[in-house]
This record gives sequence, C-alpha cells and structure tokens, in this order.
Amino acid sequence: MTGLPPAPNECTIRCPLCGSAPLPIMSLGTQPLAQDFLLPDQAPSSVQYELLPQICLDCGLAQLRYRPASATVFSEKYPYRSGVSKTMRDHLQCLAEYCLDLVADKPDPLLVEIGCNDGTLSRHFAERHLRHLGIDPARRAVAQAAASGVTVLNAEFNPETGRSVLAKYGKADLIVAANVIAHISDLRRTIEQICACLTADGSFVFEAISLFELMQRRAFDLFYDEHVYTFSATAVDRLARSYGLELVDCQPVSTQGGSLRYSLAKPGAKSPSPRVREAIRTEQAHGLLDPDAWNDFAAAATHSAQSLRQTLDRLRRAGSAVAGYGATAKSSVALTFAGLGRKQLDCIFDTTPEKVGLTSPCDRIPIRFPAPDLVDRYDYLVMFAWNFLPEIEVRERAFRTMGGKWITYHGSVCIA
Ligand code: TMP
Repeated sequence: MTGLPPAPNECTIRCPLCGSAPLPIMSLGTQPLAQDFLLPDQAPSSVQYELLPQICLDCGLAQLRYRPASATVFSEKYPYRSGVSKTMRDHLQCLAEYCLDLVADKPDPLLVEIGCNDGTLSRHFAERHLRHLGIDPARRAVAQAAASGVTVLNAEFNPETGRSVLAKYGKADLIVAANVIAHISDLRRTIEQICACLTADGSFVFEAISLFELMQRRAFDLFYDEHVYTFSATAVDRLARSYGLELVDCQPVSTQGGSLRYSLAKPGAKSPSPRVREAIRTEQAHGLLDPDAWNDFAAAATHSAQSLRQTLDRLRRAGSAVAGYGATAKSSVALTFAGLGRKQLDCIFDTTPEKVGLTSPCDRIPIRFPAPDLVDRYDYLVMFAWNFLPEIEVRERAFRTMGGKWITYHGSVCIA
C-alpha cells in the first residue's frame, strides 16, 4: 500500500489458543490485500500472501496460517464504515440495547467499545448521556465518531491504552467489540487487558462471524487477511476459561452471513445461559471438529469457484452484460480464487463513497456507484455483498423487474 514498505507475512503453526497443530483447510491461492482498492493508475501493492485457513481440531478456533502485518491491513486507507448500510445500523442499535440491558442496574456505568469505527454503536451510549469511550486506531473513522458526539480515543486497544483508560476513567461495567476481536492477532494480551479493565461483575460482549455458519454455508470468501481468527462457541468457551473468564451467553445474530454474540463475565458473576452448552453441542454434533467435514467444505468451495468461472465465461460468450455487486473484501477473495477479472465483469457496483472510482485489487475491475440507469443495463449481477442480500434486493428491485438476475456462488452457482 502507498507509503508503507511491504511487510513480511506472519505465520501461525501452532494454535494460539491451545498450542495444538492446526489442520490446513484449503489454499485459496495467492491473494492481494482484500481491501486494497486502487486508483485506476496506481501501482499494484506488493503485499501478497497465501490465503490458507486452518482449523484447530482441539479447540475449534480457525485461523490464517499466513497473514500480512496488521498495520498493512488496517492502514490509513482502510475503507470500512459500520454505518454504511441500514442492516448494520439497525443491528448495532439492537446490540446497543443488549448492552444497555446489561448495565441497566448500575448507577453510573462506564461502557467501552473496542473498535468503535465511525461510532454507529457508541452513538447510542452518547445519546443517553452515559459515560462511554470508543477506541479505534482508524483516524478517519474515529473523526466521524467524534463528530457524532462519541467520546473517542484514537488508538489501538493494547496494554498501554488499557492502562491509560483505567487511569482516566476507571474500570468498565461493559466492554463491547463488534467484529473486532477476530482482527487482533494477540488474543492473550487483548483478553488479559479486557479482564484488567472490567469491574468484578462487568460484562465483555463481542460479536464475530460464526465458524460453524461459515462451514455450513460453504462461505469460503469469509476467510481473508482481516479475519485472523474465525471463532466458534467451542473456541470461545475455551478462550474464556483460559484467561479467567466464563462464557455466559451465546446468541446467533444475522450479520456477516451468520455471527454469534458472546457474553463473557468473571467466573461466578453471572449464571450461564443454557444456550452456551446448546451451541457447543450443535457445533460438535455437526462436524466442527471433524477433518472429513472440512474436506467436504474445501471440495465444495473449489467446485463453486470453478462453476462460477465457467458460468461467467459462458454468459459472456453468449453476449450477456455481467457485473459484480458489492466491492467487498469477500469479492477480492472469490475473484482471485476463481481467477476472474475484467474479462468476466465490466465493473463492481458499490454505494460506499470511499470505494467508488477505485478498482478491485484483482485485475483492476472498476468500482462504480449503482445508479439505476447503469445497474438496469445489466443482465446478471454477481452478488459479492451476499450478507446484505435482502437490503440490496430492495434497493435494486428495478434490476429484477427489468429481467436482471442475481448470481450467488456458495456451494453451487445459483442464478435467480
Ligand atoms: P461488507 O460485507 O464488507 O460489510 O461490505 C458490504 C459492501 O456492500 C460495502 O462496500 C457497501 C456495499 N453495499 C452496497 O453497495 N449497496 C447496498 O445496498 C449495501 C447494503 C451495501
């Protein structure tokens, strides 16, 4: 990326949670940084890495074997904004309500959000005049959070930040992190710091993609550089016990194609919900720790990528107009793994202002705003933002009305 020297890739050969040797799931090829969207005339980034997710069959934590250094992945250019979709805004409002319930009996609670991004979640705490703090290293996103009234600290959450938060604000009654913990490679340091910052009866709530849902859905494109880890209830139960916490609740949430909301507390502080045991039982009964199940996953992912390529080549030969929808990190993974580029897709539509006008990291596919007169010219759109399918189908209903079809590609290619 501009301004940064190529960083060496980091390599994980032992599970950071339990020390076992993980099982490689599959190689998804040599990939660029998944969100390294480039100006049309910009030199391609020199950062590449083999995308090789692996699963620890002892504790159920999935992790990337190789990954670029975190400062390279989450650079100044990092384009993600929590508030960009209604789906996410609504979801974070529900998460805020869940958090507020947990501190409802506290006289003057302190709520801390790790990875507050543009403040879409913490804004709900600020609006209620509760003591709160949003912490995030992304300068531009944090500036947006501050502008919407959130008290922010523009920094990474690490022991130094933890100590300064403790000194300035005291212990937190609630620490929340939505889609953040999976990004942080030093799990031990992070969880220990969270424990140190939490009151004796405080709650640590975090949400992360569910490895079990990913496996069931064959969503290979959820593995990418930003997701150092993909958690399961099985792994989080182990994680909590390893670092002096207890997993007391675990609820499915629909974000990112299927996530889990975990609630952790100090042992004995809260009574665990039966949902925790049930989630762990379901995961293990359906193959989370079974190497054959992961072989099936790898075969299905390879098959769907090949079918996607064959389908798009066939449609192109027939003269159809084909584009992508959603310049997501997932799109970079799927395009690179399936060997797709400008030959198959004219452009990728995306509503994010920061992405429009740039090109995809793989083969420089232009990213365009989905103006109706543009989208409706297409016969087929490949859905790369499949986690927002219901919202996008509503936004683009005219595309369907005009005879357009969506293409999805998990497990098998589906044109509908
Ligand atoms: P994400 O899956 O990484 O959160 O990215 C979703 C992308 O989808 C993001 O770049 C915005 C884009 N998007 C649209 O282009 N149109 C929409 O209606 C929605 C909801 C999202």
